Amino acid sequence: MTDYKVKIKGTGMFVPERIMTNDDISKFVDTNDEWIFERTGIRERRISNTEEGEFPSDMAYKATLMALENANLEANDIDLILFASVTPDFKLPNTAIVLQQKLGITNQCAALDIAAACSGFVYGLNMAQAMIRTGMVKNALIVGSEMLSREVNWKDRGSCILFGDGCGVAIVGRNEDSDDSDILSTHLGADGTGREFFDQPVGGAVYPITESHLEDGSHFMQMKGREMFKVATRTLAQNAKTVLEKANLNLDQVNWLVPHQANIRIIETTGKLLGIDPEKVIVNIEKYANTSAATVPIAFHEAIQDGRIKRGDVVLFDAFGAGLTTGATLLRY
Ligand code: UT7
Repeated sequence: MTDYKVKIKGTGMFVPERIMTNDDISKFVDTNDEWIFERTGIRERRISNTEEGEFPSDMAYKATLMALENANLEANDIDLILFASVTPDFKLPNTAIVLQQKLGITNQCAALDIAAACSGFVYGLNMAQAMIRTGMVKNALIVGSEMLSREVNWKDRGSCILFGDGCGVAIVGRNEDSDDSDILSTHLGADGTGREFFDQPVGGAVYPITESHLEDGSHFMQMKGREMFKVATRTLAQNAKTVLEKANLNLDQVNWLVPHQANIRIIETTGKLLGIDPEKVIVNIEKYANTSAATVPIAFHEAIQDGRIKRGDVVLFDAFGAGLTTGATLLRY
């Protein structure tokens, strides 16, 4: 059976220009910068400007142009688009198809959305790598793009402080170069017993939005923060151990951990449970807050751009999210 090596060929990101600081939020809910920063590590987040057309597919379009340039590829070289988002442009068609059209792709490549919340990018990457390894796909575009500002309840101080808008992408494909870049191991999982810790039941087939939902705000995302927090630390640490074990590597051989950016305390606790040097952990939550499926690819892209992550480095992606979904990828960049 074919067994190609799988390489991340290029990355890109886009975040809206508009910044909302903690002080800005304190003007409309009872909170303050000190509480938010101490409990979450967040100082500010980006908010899409709808008049500028900064919707999920638009952010993804801009991020993908950057990734194509970095990968030295053309849009028509992409033969699979996986678009991870809980805030798709429309219900129909899926956002991957909207993006395909914006990119001018004419090769009729498969285009699919992934609804796996904050684990969506890792879900997409891990699924695509299996298709690339077996020769079914040559180059896949994996997108994490979110406009959470649309779906958070801006009257709920327990959740609205946490989220932001943004997009990160990666082009992953068959490694035809004479280097060691490859995906070393993967893990995906889900545990529906925690599905009520973070959900948005109104607006789907079961509960169409009514006027009373609009009045009391129950159509927005609802989160049980403490429950999510507890599961998150346990899950992230376990994920990292799982992928290391599968690849027969130890933590000392990992150059960089790129965790989902949900809360600095979750990241620090995970780091402590694993015993990883904090210098090896990529953190940017201060600037962008939690952008769900976009946090891992944005953090990865920024660390490549500023020269921390280099070709040949061993990198561990580690994510969890609503569902509860979870996933990790261990790769040689
Ligand atoms: O992508 C995955 C999705 N989400 C997550 O991973 C979220 C994980 N959870 C968290 O990050 C944290 O649980 C939060 C940051 C959401 C909350 O932090 P916490 O330390 O768990 O606070 P808490 O909910 O236990 O609340 C402590 C206190 C409460 O007051 P009392 O009952 O002690 O008087 C809250 O009412 O802090 C109060 N509080 C706030 N105060 C000021 C809650 N939110 C705020 C706020 N500003 N924004």
